[in-house]
Amino acid sequence: MLEVTATRSLHVQRFGHNPAIFAAPGRVNIIGEHTDYADGFVMPAAIDFATLAAITPRSDGTVAIHSVNFDEQINYPVDNLPPKASHHWSDYPLGVLSVLREAGVPIPAFSLTLNGDVPIGAGLSSSASIEVASMVAVLSLTGADIAMTRVAQLCQRAENHFVGASTGIMDQFIACCGAENHALLLDCRSLEYRLAPIPSHLSLVIANSMVKHSHAGGEYNTRRAEVEEGTELLRRHRPEIRRLRDATPDDLARWGHEMRPEVLKRCRHIITENIRTVAAADALEAGDLKTLGRLMYEAHASFRNDFEASCPEVDILVDLASKEPGCIGARLTGGGFGGCTVNLVENARAQAFSERLHEEYREATGIEADIYLCHASAGAHRIASTEGETQLAKQLPSFH
Ligand code: GLA
Repeated sequence: MLEVTATRSLHVQRFGHNPAIFAAPGRVNIIGEHTDYADGFVMPAAIDFATLAAITPRSDGTVAIHSVNFDEQINYPVDNLPPKASHHWSDYPLGVLSVLREAGVPIPAFSLTLNGDVPIGAGLSSSASIEVASMVAVLSLTGADIAMTRVAQLCQRAENHFVGASTGIMDQFIACCGAENHALLLDCRSLEYRLAPIPSHLSLVIANSMVKHSHAGGEYNTRRAEVEEGTELLRRHRPEIRRLRDATPDDLARWGHEMRPEVLKRCRHIITENIRTVAAADALEAGDLKTLGRLMYEAHASFRNDFEASCPEVDILVDLASKEPGCIGARLTGGGFGGCTVNLVENARAQAFSERLHEEYREATGIEADIYLCHASAGAHRIASTEGETQLAKQLPSFH
């Protein structure tokens, strides 16, 4: 639950003025992993964990940002903001300022309080939620009228060029454009999307393996490089293949043997995952939950065997979930190498499912998993400022 009132009080105590408050959610990805940077398809949902950004203007030429989570404040003159990242929590909001400035938006002086409850390093996009919350908060002071899809692109740019993680657009996009009770099928090339209602008798249960991951550097970037290598090879044969989105299983059958074995596997995951993701969206829209569940399990197997981005703990979570009554489908969600599983579970069984999964996972691994019962939630929005603070306000028209 978002601590809106507490965040407001903390901001007023520290900075002396009543702030405007914005929220941007984390996400769970139902299917479509590592397909976004291949210009492919993803189907995430925003969740009810979020970052709050409380903001007020200043008149002293300073940018002051306080992180409640890290219990730390940074201050910089607005004309002398750091040009590069320093592996610090402030890289995310500072990256946002850097790309806004580059895009021609004049950065005002301001005080910002960031307070979030998206679990960090769990594969639920805490970083995108910080970026998007910071960006909509800062934009509210500038009067710049920027569409939400553009906000998503700018935040992705902050992550790629400032923070230094070569991620795709999925996380920032869903943090901007998610809708309550809906999953979002995104075409990562055109940025066209459609919303598919999640049936009201289903819960999104997220199980945290408690194995931490990090995107800046490391395995994520290695996988991405392998994917580029495979794409490049296929492009030599079929120049119209700009990204793996354009390649087919036939292409792999013809030319896959020219690839290094691990590159072939990475490409096979992405090419088949695109097909599964579009089929999963169709199944969700048609109410065909059996097919949706099957595709989720197949996606997990592909992520584990071909993309080799799962880990034993997460595999155990998926395996245990698949044996539980009421579980439609389960798979690792997010960048991989740890983090969480997403489980689609019938509401009536969700509580018992969570308890048993927790218990059986502890028996199997000795680890106490955090299990979250989530709802598909709205994308970034401003929070109503006075009465009923926990009531969320409608999205600001200027952010559409
Ligand atoms: C991370 C990245 C996304 C996407 C996923 C994997 O969450 O930020 O862009 O690539 O991993 O699907």
